[in-house]
Amino acid sequence: MKKILIAPSMLSADFGNLNKDIEMVNRCGDIFHLDIMDGVFVPNISYGTPVIKAITKNAKIPVEAHLMIVDPAKFLKDYKNFGIGSVSVHYEACTHLDRTIASIKELGMKAGVAINPATSEQLLYDVVRIADYIVVMSVNPGFGGQKYIPYCTEKIARLKKIIEENNPDCLIEVDGGVTAGNCAEICEAGADILVAGSAVFSEPDPEVAIRNLRNA
Ligand code: DX5
Ligand code: ZN
Repeated sequence: MKKILIAPSMLSADFGNLNKDIEMVNRCGDIFHLDIMDGVFVPNISYGTPVIKAITKNAKIPVEAHLMIVDPAKFLKDYKNFGIGSVSVHYEACTHLDRTIASIKELGMKAGVAINPATSEQLLYDVVRIADYIVVMSVNPGFGGQKYIPYCTEKIARLKKIIEENNPDCLIEVDGGVTAGNCAEICEAGADILVAGSAVFSEPDPEVAIRNLRNA
């Protein structure tokens, strides 16, 4: 059985007590998932440099940034300098996606491509060859705590087929509305990495919540 990686989304962390949540993710998670929003590409603003640095400084496991911003190529060097290992950019935000993926890799980071729920996986037929991972958004990006959009499961399965044919090393990350109740079907469809925000941090015991996701 393949190992599924759990990436807690720090958007739902307790920012009044951030160190406690960072330590918890260091102990129980596989990847820190940082959601960067600019209020333009998505109708919300998340957090900026001081918070990102506070997390990367104390992280003992890999950190990934999910850039929900227009013109993400402008900031790639900054993310490298913050100590981030993987960066995903939105298909919908990049006019020159091939170039942006190349820039991420040239900086020595892993390159991910994220697609909104309404964006077809068929558009990734070529870029899966050069991407390290694809982020299938299973909610409309911008907010934590939304409901999983059911048609995304079939999309994950179709994407998995494209990946198997073109670049089996490319991983599938699923982001949005992931719970202990639906994560089995999401993994069966082909997910390798599960992002979970409210399913971890809104639970009374986040450590138990992560364990439940793994067991499910
Ligand atoms: C949404 C973000 C997600 C979000 C997931 O735009 O990309 O990473 O934090 O939160 P949940 O797991 O609560 O849907
Ligand atoms: Zn995200």
